[in-house]
Amino acid sequence: MLFPGHGGEVVPTQSPLDGSTGLGPVSQNPGARAGAMEANPSVLATVGVGDLVLLDPLSEESLLSNLRERFLHKEIYTYIGNVVISVNPYRQLPIYSAEMVEQYCNGNFYAMKPHIYAIAEDAYSSLRDRNRDQCILITGESGAGKTEASKLVMSYVAAVCSKGADVTKVKEQLLQSNPVLEAFGNAKTIRNNNSSRFGKYMDVEFDFKGEPLGGLISNYLLEKSRVVWHVKNERNFHIFYQLLAGASDPLLKRLKLQRDCRHHGYLGDENPRLPGMDDATNFQAVQDAMRIIGFSEAEVMQLLEVTAVVLKLGDLQLSGQFQASGMDACGIQNIQVLRDICELIGLQESILEQALCSRTVEAKQEKVVTALSVAQGYFGRDALAKNIYSRLFDWLVTRINESIQVTAGERRKVMGVLDIYGFEIFQDNSFEQFIINYCNEKLQQIFILMTLKEEQEEYFREGIKWTPVTFFDNSIICDLIESGKGGILVLLDEECLRPGTVSAATFLAKLDQAFGSHEHYESRKSQSDRHITDTSLPSTCFRVHHYAGKVTYNATGFIEKNTDRLYRGLAQAMWQAKHTLLRSLFPDGDPKKASLKMPPTAGFQFKASINTLMKNLYSKNPNYIRCIKPNENQAPGQFTDELVRSQVRYLGLLENVRVRRAGYAYRQPYQPCLERYRLLSTHTWPRWTGTARDGVQALLSDLDIPPEELAYGHTKVFIRTPQTLFNLEERRRRRVEELATVIQKTYRGWRCRTQYQLMRKSQILISAWFRGHAQKKRYQHMKRAALLIQTYARGWKTRKEYKKYFRSGATARLACFIYRRLLQKFFLGLKNNLPPLTVSDRSWPPAPYRFLTNANQELKTIFYHWKCKKYRDQLSLEKRAAMQTKLCASELFKGKKTRYGPSVPEPFQGDYVGLQKNPKYQKLQAAARGKLVLADTVRKVNQANGKGLGGFPPMSMPLHAPGERVPNSPCALAPCHASDPPTWVPALSAWRPCRLHTPIPELPGVLAVPAQDADGTWCLLPQQTGTGGAKGDVLLVSDHVIEVVTRVHQVLLETTQQALNLQIADQFSTQFKKSSIAVTVVQGPKGHLEPVCKKKGKKMEVLVC
Ligand SMILES: Nc1ncnc2c1ncn2[C@@H]1O[C@H](COP(=O)(O)OP(=O)(O)OP(=O)(O)O)[C@@H](O)[C@H]1O
Ligand SMILES: [Mg+2]
Repeated sequence: MLFPGHGGEVVPTQSPLDGSTGLGPVSQNPGARAGAMEANPSVLATVGVGDLVLLDPLSEESLLSNLRERFLHKEIYTYIGNVVISVNPYRQLPIYSAEMVEQYCNGNFYAMKPHIYAIAEDAYSSLRDRNRDQCILITGESGAGKTEASKLVMSYVAAVCSKGADVTKVKEQLLQSNPVLEAFGNAKTIRNNNSSRFGKYMDVEFDFKGEPLGGLISNYLLEKSRVVWHVKNERNFHIFYQLLAGASDPLLKRLKLQRDCRHHGYLGDENPRLPGMDDATNFQAVQDAMRIIGFSEAEVMQLLEVTAVVLKLGDLQLSGQFQASGMDACGIQNIQVLRDICELIGLQESILEQALCSRTVEAKQEKVVTALSVAQGYFGRDALAKNIYSRLFDWLVTRINESIQVTAGERRKVMGVLDIYGFEIFQDNSFEQFIINYCNEKLQQIFILMTLKEEQEEYFREGIKWTPVTFFDNSIICDLIESGKGGILVLLDEECLRPGTVSAATFLAKLDQAFGSHEHYESRKSQSDRHITDTSLPSTCFRVHHYAGKVTYNATGFIEKNTDRLYRGLAQAMWQAKHTLLRSLFPDGDPKKASLKMPPTAGFQFKASINTLMKNLYSKNPNYIRCIKPNENQAPGQFTDELVRSQVRYLGLLENVRVRRAGYAYRQPYQPCLERYRLLSTHTWPRWTGTARDGVQALLSDLDIPPEELAYGHTKVFIRTPQTLFNLEERRRRRVEELATVIQKTYRGWRCRTQYQLMRKSQILISAWFRGHAQKKRYQHMKRAALLIQTYARGWKTRKEYKKYFRSGATARLACFIYRRLLQKFFLGLKNNLPPLTVSDRSWPPAPYRFLTNANQELKTIFYHWKCKKYRDQLSLEKRAAMQTKLCASELFKGKKTRYGPSVPEPFQGDYVGLQKNPKYQKLQAAARGKLVLADTVRKVNQANGKGLGGFPPMSMPLHAPGERVPNSPCALAPCHASDPPTWVPALSAWRPCRLHTPIPELPGVLAVPAQDADGTWCLLPQQTGTGGAKGDVLLVSDHVIEVVTRVHQVLLETTQQALNLQIADQFSTQFKKSSIAVTVVQGPKGHLEPVCKKKGKKMEVLVC
């Protein structure tokens, strides 16, 4: 630790001691050391010797006179290596200013005057930079200045770490815990006006940057007996006086307290005023501090109420009462005080009264209430007051911890500051002093172990040549007190727990028995056993030879204080109080949690907590501040030699100096040492490939360090004087600066180069892009120009070339193009707009342009023909034949006969009379040679009068196609016998073989058909020229004259290949029985339904409908 910025340990060193001591080899000339120190005027410019290691000659006397000289010149701090000796100046010195903080913050330990700030800086920088947990052990007897020293360390650390808002709050909270704890835990003693009556260990936690995060306070055994009793000229705890002096009248009234201390039993009758201490101001400071820490108003008030209750308990007076049983009893004398207390804590008076005046003992599940005597009552009252106060103090510490504790889980570094009560020797020393001195004994042990024993053992381990330095090892005293196998504390516990009557005498007897021959134990009995008469040792006392002196302890009260008994009734009464804070202090008063098991004794608890503390301290890097009290009068400028000499002795300062002088100030394993200093030699910088030890040797020999300054152990290198180390550090600092400059130079060069190259690259890039862009623009421009020129040139050339064709051909080309375009459009339009495929639909889109009219007409025709063909293709044979017949009829009659038009939709049926179903015909049909073409009913006109139309029965007129059996016969009319030649037969209605008439081949005379007939009725007039000529022509009336004529025409054409000689006219002549008759067809009157023939001579008029 020690030196800022290096990781080695600095411990006792060296030494040429004066021959009289006979200790240690004279390994170094003190004069030479002093010479070396001349190089550092700041260290030497002090009074006497700043570091006792440099003292020459070294003796108790010289050490003392050095301390005295310095003290009288207000140099209160002196080093023994890294240990700071602080002599209490008992006056304010101007050495704690902000400027001083500044100086020590940036200075070097050995470059500055000895100061408590130097050790604080050393510990803090080692914690911050080296990541080593630190502890600062402040020891010394009561009034030596430990508490002040701890506050100085804390304020220094607070001043040098950063000043952010959060940090300031934490720092404030940590610092403000002092006035609060001092108010409740400090008191005036004969030795010290502000004596700590509790032990305090505070862990301050830092983050990796060295900023305080919070802390944790542990408190050790408060001297609670002071609450109820204190020696004359001492005081109770400060808070009581502060409260009475500083509280406002309303507050005092509320707390039911009197301002005058003499009204309160626990405060004594003496004048409570202390010189230089203003209780009222301090009370205000305590309240402010509590607010800063984070106490709420309610919490502060409750705290004061409980404090007031403790004071009020002291005011409670008991009086003896007479009981019928004759047993002693007691009662409350001043009931108003009881009432006040109960009002303050919210409890029924009767409960507290009963708890104070009687005791309930539970035995075999029976409760026995016994009255207490006045003495027992007072004992119970005081025990209650002590318990309330000590529990309140514990609560206070816990509450402060709640505020300052660190919650974040990050890894923390810790600096522990231990300020524990100092070694005490009073006239009458009791259990408290025994415990306090035991604690100091343990701290001394730690000091011895870490600075003297461990140090020397390490030299042996490392094989360093060493002459042992003798020192007093206080382990034997520690064992005497705390040994688990029968130390004083264990025997005390046994005595406390032992059934039967126990007393101071029995305890003492036990001690005598166990330690009668122990060299550090004395009692009347042990002395008389040794045949020594010691009148200074009362029979109730025993004496322990502590490291710091012999202390006579009065065994009376040890057992009670160790048991620390509080009647259960009182704890239960407190638990019943409505006052939340007070109630929370007595969880053991809860009947549900009541246990018959004895709680651990005070001694046991203290031992356990001290052992935990020791473990904690061992785990950290120790820094020592050894406080010395210069006089018993707390007077400035007084230096009592004897008093200081005894302290120098028991603190083992001389041994400390000897070991340090004989030993080595600094040691470090080879590897880290090489790492730290290898930059100082060209042999090891920048790289060392050998072993670390060789490297360190090469390095240190290269640095011209005198060999006597160095020792090479098995694993570590040892450096004798801090000055050598300081020298090394200084060289390293300069070298680091040099290297930093090189790094800086290289870095700056690199940065500028990089920057330059970046700029250059950027510039090149920008130029390249710019040039590219400019060139592209130029090229585009040129390209456009070239294209334009090219276009013009080509155009000119082409125009020149095509000039000759251009004008003559252009129109035709254009026209052709337009024409094609129009045609294309027309066809496409047509394609999308074709009329339906039904034959009867003759629609067709009109031609969009006139020049397309013909083509459109043509297309219409083609389309129509195509439609018809498609229609025809799908026709059946019958339908086709019928259509052919219709076509034939059309050829014959179209445009010639009126009736023709309306007849077109009427289908030709052929067989109108159902001939084919006629059984007779069917019989004949089998023999017939041709297919039946037509069978219809006709009427024959009477030749004689022309009237026969009605009278003449209708005839069937079958017409047969030529039969297969007579292949040559072109036509056949049925019904005929098979052998019959085909004949035109106007058949009878009743089917029978009929007479042959005009054979078909001879038929072509003239078949006359009237041209006009309106609807339905037809006249057929075949002119007979054949064999039946005698009868003349037959004038027939048929409803289907067009079909009859058409079929006859067809049969005739088929049979004879001759067309029918058909005359369609309204006037024609006919031959009736050799007379020629002129027939005229006229339109009959409207409404008549059938043709009527009127014959007049040789004229006949046919009226048609
Ligand atoms: N560095 C100092 N400068 C000025 N006065 C000091 C200094 N150190 C101590 N004192 C004075 O000495 C008194 C006692 O000091 P302090 O309370 O620190 O003793 P202590 O060692 O803590 O004693 P105890 O063991 O009784 O608590 C202080 O009240 C203060 O007046
Ligand atoms: Mg103190």
